[in-house]
Amino acid sequence: MTTLITNIGSLLTNDPELGTLTDAAVVVDDGRVAWVGSAAAAPDADARVDAGGRAVIPGFVDSHSHLVFGGDRTAEFNARMSGQAYTAGGIRTTVAATRAASDEALDANLVRFVKEMQRQGTTTVEVKSGYGLTVEDEARALRIAGAHTAETTYLGAHVVAPEYADDPAGYVDLVTGPMLDACAPHARWVDVFCERGAFDGDQARAILTAGAARGLVPRVHANQLTEGPGVQLAVELGAASADHCTHLSDADVKALADARDTTVATLLPGAEFSTRAVYPDARRLIDAGATVALSTDCNPGSSFTSSMPFCIAVAVRDMGMTPDEAVVAATLGGARALRRTDIGHLAPGARADLVLLDAPSHVHLAYRPGVPLVSAVWQGGVRVV
Ligand code: NIG
Ligand code: FE
Repeated sequence: MTTLITNIGSLLTNDPELGTLTDAAVVVDDGRVAWVGSAAAAPDADARVDAGGRAVIPGFVDSHSHLVFGGDRTAEFNARMSGQAYTAGGIRTTVAATRAASDEALDANLVRFVKEMQRQGTTTVEVKSGYGLTVEDEARALRIAGAHTAETTYLGAHVVAPEYADDPAGYVDLVTGPMLDACAPHARWVDVFCERGAFDGDQARAILTAGAARGLVPRVHANQLTEGPGVQLAVELGAASADHCTHLSDADVKALADARDTTVATLLPGAEFSTRAVYPDARRLIDAGATVALSTDCNPGSSFTSSMPFCIAVAVRDMGMTPDEAVVAATLGGARALRRTDIGHLAPGARADLVLLDAPSHVHLAYRPGVPLVSAVWQGGVRVV
């Protein structure tokens, strides 16, 4: 069964040879892109979709989210918007609500957000654990996430579990020992919140190294609230991404630029938006030569948005990105952060993850902030929206 999507006004391929095509068409065959070119030269297919002169882009790759959780943190948000600072201490509120929730409730909540993301054009999402913080609850979170995405991340080291408040070293032993044993079979990645009040550089190194020894590839919550060792550690360990990158020294920027083929700087503007913090400087990173991705960080505390178009608009308005750069970071950038070559671009052989926009070009994602421009979504060639 082949499908021809034709009369595409503007097709962003993210392919270095193909670029952005006008009056274009795409043929999808068996879940893959089979052909890309000018509408006039398109081959026949079993089914045909008329894009009506509108834009098509690759599906968004949201490479950083925390979707396995119970409850919400409306009260904390209200307090913050009345002037209180974000400290990440609220993570423990979500830990309590997550532990109390049934498997079914956690699954239903996750599905709700995955569908919400899909409606906004996201076709791949990474999901972290991190709100269980016991052996059973972390493994359960990863099992639930793994039923909906291949991109699962073990974040037992989100904060020190409340039971270990007086024994952080004991908690690191748990995270690198029995908890890792239980979680490794369900995870592809290992992550640490490397930050004052969470885990320091030495603890983070121990956790990431232990995870790597079990085949999990590191990624790091780095330099979100303060400058610290996270970015340098991510680069040193060959992590797939350093996420947040809000407070960077010149040496951090240089390290990310030098590691452009290994470690992606993943920027999460929803977190700064929802905590009224200063945004990361995407321009500085791009000008230095770093590879940049944009993601939502969707979680009930610091960034309760599931919307990649929202992140794109903020990144363009407040982080110095051009509309092209932001859309590429939200698609190809996310794919690179997940070390995936099958997504984030539209060339023959790529997975057929496509988004049809109710707009003449992808620039409208930033130009028309807050407007629901996603008109249709194909995931692996299957129309899902
Ligand atoms: O990425 N930084 C740590 N983790 C989340 C916050 C989680 C929360 O506040 O519940 C983040 O922003
Ligand atoms: Fe996060």
